[in-house]
Amino acid sequence: MSSKGMRISKGEYKAVAQRMKVIQEQQKLIVEKMKRIKYKIAIMSNKGGVGKSFVTASLAAALAVSGRKVGVLDADVHGPSIHKLFGLPTGLGMPAKPDGTMIPVEAPPGVKIASLGLLLPEDETPLIWRGPIKTSALRELLAFTEWGDLDYLLIDLPPGTGDEQLTIAQLIPNMTGVILVTIPSDLSKAIVLKGLAFSKRLNVPVIGIIENMSYFRCPDDTIHYIFGKGAAEDIAKKYNIEYLGSIPIDPRIREANDKGKVFFIEYPDSEASKAFLKIAEKVISIVEGDSKEKEEAGSDES
Ligand SMILES: Nc1ncnc2c1ncn2[C@@H]1O[C@H](COP(=O)(O)OP(=O)(O)OP(=O)(O)O)[C@@H](O)[C@H]1O
Ligand SMILES: [Mg+2]
Repeated sequence: MSSKGMRISKGEYKAVAQRMKVIQEQQKLIVEKMKRIKYKIAIMSNKGGVGKSFVTASLAAALAVSGRKVGVLDADVHGPSIHKLFGLPTGLGMPAKPDGTMIPVEAPPGVKIASLGLLLPEDETPLIWRGPIKTSALRELLAFTEWGDLDYLLIDLPPGTGDEQLTIAQLIPNMTGVILVTIPSDLSKAIVLKGLAFSKRLNVPVIGIIENMSYFRCPDDTIHYIFGKGAAEDIAKKYNIEYLGSIPIDPRIREANDKGKVFFIEYPDSEASKAFLKIAEKVISIVEGDSKEKEEAGSDES
């Protein structure tokens, strides 16, 4: 290609410069909004269908009943599901203010939700978006959602280490950390190693690991380890990650999720819901304890 062929026209240059300006302005809005949120935690796994979204929703509910102000951002642009786990229908919308900012929808037990799933007209809307479009959708959702003051923002990521994960890590300043979710299969090790390498590369600390679908308790109290036993706990020890806890398999979880009921509210006395309360306590003690230590050490980070 000749050097002439590679040159961009004045008009193209203007369009690119204008686009860069818009992106910078949105980035500024994100920084301002994120300043009002104390802890920003992404929930991650390298494998699909391990219950990330269910874990995100339940941990958010457990943090809310533990007295924290909580929001959840659904960053799974292809298959947003967080709104449904809180009983909110697809296409419900997010109220907009005259200045164009959007208010997250509050769902019981007091969790604020922002998701493309609320903005899309119907469940069947196909989202065949390439990297740059996914990035701008997430950037706009972050720039224009008015969370107000929050203690925790949990971010539900799609599986893997692709555009959404990179975008979130690059757009959100001072991420508190990531929580890894796994099931106790042989794949766990590879999953955790990938997750660890990714968070290291992005300089985001790992807060801990949660094992979902750990076991099934029969009505006669015998326990069956359907996918294997103790893998996440072993990995946590080996790689020096905090083991946050395990969630049993409970068919009522899938039923509640499918019906748009919030499992944590419908079955507060279940083993799974009690486990989430304990996990929330651990997360609180790790992240709030850490920031207290930093404050006491006179660090100016917040
Ligand atoms: N502990 C559990 N016991 C029984 N069913 C569960 C449990 N955890 C999750 N499920 C069910 O497993 C399915 C997958 O869960 P979920 O959608 O939360 O996974 P995910 O990791 O977010 O999936 P994706 O990779 O598609 O985003 C859902 O039907 C959910 O109801
Ligand atoms: Mg999901």
